[in-house]
Amino acid sequence: MTLETSQSQETHMHPLLPLSDRLRADTRTTHEGVDQAIMAGDPFKNIEKYGLYLQIQYGLHRDVEPLYTSSALIGAQGDFPVIKDRGRLDAVIQDAADLGVTLSRYATPPLSENIDLAQALGWLYVVEGSNLGAAFLLKYAKQIGLSETHGARHLAEPPEGRAPYWRTFKDALNGVTLGADDDARACEAARTAFNRVRALVRCHFDEASQGERGA
Ligand code: HEM
Repeated sequence: MTLETSQSQETHMHPLLPLSDRLRADTRTTHEGVDQAIMAGDPFKNIEKYGLYLQIQYGLHRDVEPLYTSSALIGAQGDFPVIKDRGRLDAVIQDAADLGVTLSRYATPPLSENIDLAQALGWLYVVEGSNLGAAFLLKYAKQIGLSETHGARHLAEPPEGRAPYWRTFKDALNGVTLGADDDARACEAARTAFNRVRALVRCHFDEASQGERGA
């Protein structure tokens, strides 16, 4: 597994598709399931429901936060600076504070910043990609009085715009050369990330209990 700017096509499972497209294709069904599960919880009905949705976001962003400062991604081993300062954990925490939502304490630890590169890319694909769907979610959030400066900070558009940032991110992702095994593990990590969200949805939307969470 190496970080290089040119893409070696030979070792890829589907050589004609860049990694971002393979991740997309590989997680399409899982993503749809997550979208539906979240929307079934009616998260933009009122602030109380939105608070549950924030708990889900908190769980996800808490898990991935170490990757944004991972030297494997940002520092010595390669050039993947695009994610520097893009982590949205602080925004989620501030959103919760805006609304007086007490965030859950999860039993599982966050990801290690030493997670291997292929897995890190799979997780980051999922979290950074969620910023695209956030355009829709922000519109709904505004209907219940939230905004990029109150309660919905984590849904804000990146300074350069959602689509341009996503293109930059995907270019960086696709610029990483992975071997066939790494490729498969990136896809598996992306599915794991979506499944983590599903588990968080079950935990918060499907269970009435509050306090310490087992998720
Ligand atoms: C934590 C929850 C979520 C995660 C992790 C997530 C993840 C992602 C990812 C990875 C992408 C990029 C797909 C690609 O083009 O490669 C994406 C796009 C998108 N998501 Fe989600 N998503 C989430 C929740 C939602 C919800 C609740 C909705 C609304 C029903 C939604 C709607 C969309 C839409 C419409 C796009 C495509 C936007 C575009 O192409 O302009 N997502 N999301």
